[in-house]
Amino acid sequence: MLAQRPPMGWNTWNTFGKDINETLIRESADAFIDNGLKDAGYEYLVIDDCWSEYNRDPITDRIVPHHEKFPNGMKVVADYVHSKGLKFGMYSCDGVRTCADYPGSFDHEFLDAQTFAEFGVDYLKYDNCYKPNNADGPSLYRRMAMALRASGREILFSACNWGTDDVWTWIRGAGAHMYRSTGDINDSAESYRNIALSQADKFGYSAPGCYNDIDMLTVGMYGKGLVGSVGCNDADYRSQFALWCMYSAPLMLGCDIRHMNKQTLELVTNRELIAIDQDGECRPPIIRKCVWDENSLIMLKMLENNEYAIAFFNMGEKDKSLPMLFSEFGLPAHSGYGFKVRNLFTGEDEGFYKEYMRIPVQAHDCAVYRAQLVRG
Ligand code: GLA
Repeated sequence: MLAQRPPMGWNTWNTFGKDINETLIRESADAFIDNGLKDAGYEYLVIDDCWSEYNRDPITDRIVPHHEKFPNGMKVVADYVHSKGLKFGMYSCDGVRTCADYPGSFDHEFLDAQTFAEFGVDYLKYDNCYKPNNADGPSLYRRMAMALRASGREILFSACNWGTDDVWTWIRGAGAHMYRSTGDINDSAESYRNIALSQADKFGYSAPGCYNDIDMLTVGMYGKGLVGSVGCNDADYRSQFALWCMYSAPLMLGCDIRHMNKQTLELVTNRELIAIDQDGECRPPIIRKCVWDENSLIMLKMLENNEYAIAFFNMGEKDKSLPMLFSEFGLPAHSGYGFKVRNLFTGEDEGFYKEYMRIPVQAHDCAVYRAQLVRG
């Protein structure tokens, strides 16, 4: 079964937009290995929009790779990605054109799925622009899912309809393995927070086999690239990454992975945070708002083997001490139990807490712990 854990990888869109080519893909595949991303669990290298010629081939009716960007075709690119032990992803759209105005797969689903299978594609992101007015969104996603299954190749289906048509209610049944639930992220604190807050009560629909995809990470972009916007500081990137992990959301990097600084690399390869994301049960966190700051979130996520993840997100503009009252999460004071915690950013054991924790967190930052429930 595909997607037994939230998919992890990298996607070209956030940083490179239409400026993609074979060299970039080869260098990025190398970076997966050289930077230890593959060892940390990142697997899918995904080429987003703008990879093809502006029109289909007039004779075969197929979508063809752009002759300057990918002069050797896509099979060669896929072979290189596979030679590194990685999986190869591509992009199309349920409308007649893609969002950046290249040919879309509407009414060509089975032919295009065949083309992707012949390229050696393992993952297809499927967007939602330019569909005919009378077309029914869910049925177009069902069609492509069926076409991918008919292609004879195992291809992970990454649906991207931005949360329209109450996507969470039908997308698992439509055969997708992950589904975008929001509009596009940009590299700002406002953007990742809005996305994280808007989906806080929607992760009950996200589980092994099909996950709520809250978009590619902007971690490490620092304002550069296509969705660079204003950029974030390192505290924001810690918070963004930790939020995605607490939600067990897909971890698709969007920065230039060939040139990550030390902070970015350490963050995105933090094994303990990734283990929270990839936990086998993929349960949504229990979320409470801080009593004195509506936007600051306190979370407890149940993990496998009777362990827990605890997280504090300070989404305000001032440093604060954030309280977690265990009774609000199912652990009353009279139970005789408390949590023994390890800080996942420092790796330090920070002792035993009973009844409550109160943790100082700087503005925009977070604190994340792995916890064990013990008597004491
Ligand atoms: C949409 C998607 C983005 C990206 C672009 C490409 O906006 O939501 O993630 O794929 O299209 O044009």
